[in-house]
Amino acid sequence: MNKEQFIGVLTSGGDASGMNAAIRAVTRSAIFNGFRVKGIYRGYEGLINGEVRELTTEDVSSIIQRGGTILKTARSPRFTTPEGRRQAWETIRQEEIGALVIIGGDGSLRGARIFAEEYDLPCIGLPGTIDNDLCGTDVTIGYDTALNTIVECVDKIRDTATSHDRIFFVEVMGRDAGFLAQYSAIASGAEAAIIPEDRTDVDQLEHFIGRGIRKTKNSSIVIVSESPKDGGAMHYAERVCKEYPEYEVRVTILGHLQRGGAPSASDRILSSRLGVASVTALLEGQRNVMIGIRNGETVYVPFIEAIRRDKPLDKRLVEILDELSI
Ligand code: F6P
Repeated sequence: MNKEQFIGVLTSGGDASGMNAAIRAVTRSAIFNGFRVKGIYRGYEGLINGEVRELTTEDVSSIIQRGGTILKTARSPRFTTPEGRRQAWETIRQEEIGALVIIGGDGSLRGARIFAEEYDLPCIGLPGTIDNDLCGTDVTIGYDTALNTIVECVDKIRDTATSHDRIFFVEVMGRDAGFLAQYSAIASGAEAAIIPEDRTDVDQLEHFIGRGIRKTKNSSIVIVSESPKDGGAMHYAERVCKEYPEYEVRVTILGHLQRGGAPSASDRILSSRLGVASVTALLEGQRNVMIGIRNGETVYVPFIEAIRRDKPLDKRLVEILDELSI
């Protein structure tokens, strides 16, 4: 791309704390390097509708500490169609956008991959999702903040669980990935985590009860990863009521409060690094890659690799939780 053209930036899919810090970093780093920037509102929907405005350094002042995304976000069924992407391309041409930075999760990068294959436009992805389920990066923007929010909530639930001698099933987000559940369980001292990655022949509920959880403790907290297939926390609570009526059970579904709030320092730093790296990548002539962080270093991950659905969760963490929750 030449410097007469603009770098476009958009946020897409579920919002994640730190997206604003990433928008700020992309904008400021681009301007620092002699580019101009256009913000696209409401993700791919805004790209289709032509909701575009130039961003200056002042436009991104005082946003590093704010959750959500000033560019707003959306999930765009229209962008999954060739006609939707054709309209998006029209906007790109009209607005003289020479490269696109997409901040979002796997659905957003999936869309970017197809768009970049169909049209001649360098696309750079930044991993933005609380689920931490993108491959090729150790962490994603928003994950650390969401994790800390969950731990703060579980600490509070622990007070009432202990006072009443109850089992609490706390449902957390993550779509099909158990990172938030497993890591928050360890960080909050929960007695168990029920996660999709640990789906074996062993019934996770029976395993938890069978370990004699109440022999040594009068209350328990089980973190359950949301799952439309399994029915999530409600399903397990209902099973305990039926199969182990001696236990008193409650359910808390944390829901969207996990997505909001000021980003943690880690998320602000991560977003700043990734935002700057996206401009460096464009200067180096990179295209159609996600910027990830591996072992502390920024890396370029081809979209096809980033959107694989099998990001491994370190199984030793399951053992650690088992060992520490006796
Ligand atoms: O991908 C982020 C996420 O928060 C998932 O954890 C969750 O399953 C989903 O988005 C919820 O989406 P929505 O906000 O559209 O209901």
